[in-house]
Amino acid sequence: MIFTKRFLWASLASGMILMTGLYAAEGKAKKSDRVVINADFGKEVISKFIYGHFAEHLGHCIYGGIYVGEDSSIPNTRGIRNDVVEALKEIAPSVVRWPGGCFADTYHWKDGIGPKDQRPSIINTTWGGVTEDNSFGTHEFLDLCELIGAEPYICANVGSGTVQEAAEWVEYVNSDAKSPMTELRKKNGREEPWHVKYWAVGNESWGCGGNMTPDYYTDLYKRFSTYMRAGRPYRVASGGTDPDFEWTETVLKKTQKYRNLIQGYSFHYYTFCHGWNDKSSATQFDENDWFHTMKNTLIMEERLESHIALMDEYDPQNRIGLIADEWGNWFTVEPGTNPGFLYQQNTLRDAVTAALYLNIFNNHARRVKMANIAQFVNVLQAMILTKDDQIVKTPTFYVFKMYKVHHDATLLPIDVRCEDYAYEDMTLPGLSASASKDKDGVIHVSLCNIDPHNSKKIEVDLRGSGKLSSSSGTIINAPDMNAYNDFGKSENVNIQKFSSFSVKNNVVKVDLPAKSVVIISLK
Ligand code: AHR
Repeated sequence: MIFTKRFLWASLASGMILMTGLYAAEGKAKKSDRVVINADFGKEVISKFIYGHFAEHLGHCIYGGIYVGEDSSIPNTRGIRNDVVEALKEIAPSVVRWPGGCFADTYHWKDGIGPKDQRPSIINTTWGGVTEDNSFGTHEFLDLCELIGAEPYICANVGSGTVQEAAEWVEYVNSDAKSPMTELRKKNGREEPWHVKYWAVGNESWGCGGNMTPDYYTDLYKRFSTYMRAGRPYRVASGGTDPDFEWTETVLKKTQKYRNLIQGYSFHYYTFCHGWNDKSSATQFDENDWFHTMKNTLIMEERLESHIALMDEYDPQNRIGLIADEWGNWFTVEPGTNPGFLYQQNTLRDAVTAALYLNIFNNHARRVKMANIAQFVNVLQAMILTKDDQIVKTPTFYVFKMYKVHHDATLLPIDVRCEDYAYEDMTLPGLSASASKDKDGVIHVSLCNIDPHNSKKIEVDLRGSGKLSSSSGTIINAPDMNAYNDFGKSENVNIQKFSSFSVKNNVVKVDLPAKSVVIISLK
């Protein structure tokens, strides 16, 4: 049995009262995992932007996946697929990051505006060396965001662009004053500014974004940020490679006197099954792969907390948001597909790790103000896969749909004690959880059992919640750990009703099946 760090910290912080209560309760709950939620102690809001997305000009994320052009036989609105829009609305996407990723630092936005037949083509040198005809540009992206009801988050080109180019992009999109940029926008059919709040200043500037040193990048960041100012944007600095804490420290330290220039700091973390050089298949995996995928996902919490500790040191007032704008599972591409297109299937394993990530982000909502899973459609851990005119909603899609209840809800402090998930001679904490209270006073508890074989008996002790009178549950689960949804077949993984729990005296007893994600809602 293990005590998670969260449990220990919270217990130590709240002193003997909680400790006494817990040990007293231990006798009667020995065989159960135990979750204690303080329902009246919530103060942080789980930003809905934690449930954000990322759409890069990469493989078939944009072209084919989101955008098919007006002349396509696939039903569309101004070139954007209707079926994808309708599906995405189900998960209430809060924010979409675009146009990259690595692509962003090769992208010159003026190539993607104006009449389509006059837009120049470029080569997408980062992803597959394919021709990019620029038919999906700023107007089309912002149209997509309006169609699905998401906030846009634009990543400006620092690696191969200029300060003026970035400043003009912000002005084109955000200004309502008369200027050459706003006149150009109007000529291109958009009278009113879009008021885009979120802007990234480069992407992975340590690598594909220009191979910079942290000092050099921070100086450049200050220059770009100074002039990217139309509409008071929320500007996000590029983070370092994982786990480069020197980069983080340099950026935070050197911008300390310029707090008005930095509102967010970006952090990327991917789960590779056994490492960058051994990513393994998205569908053909065994328990060894399952265990290591869980392990490498859980490492993210440690990384996040190390970043938060540095941010607390350099920004004790908690003014800079940690923006986890790329995260997710990165497996080997599906056989026969372009290795530069990063197309992978998505199984129950992806649903379980998505729940782990989202529970971690929820529980760090004080500092984490946005997170964007990589990526939206057809790339890496996607929400949706497309094949010609067909679409598939992935297991990860259903986690996002289920977790909508946490959008902008109040985070509830939670302590988790659980049995380990053991594989060979290795162990991991078997249970992940987070909880929130929504604006109607409903408490939502997310529970995720990462053990692929053993169900769990869990006692959830809701303190300070008042008398509970109604409850309901939903679950994502499947008989096989590598179950997935495929084109033209009925779904193997989606959301089902869950009723294997009982509520008595504000204690919820749950039989949590192996490899499952559950949300229990209580009022
Ligand atoms: O999401 C794929 C790539 O991963 C992004 O373009 C880049 O930022 C990261 O390295």
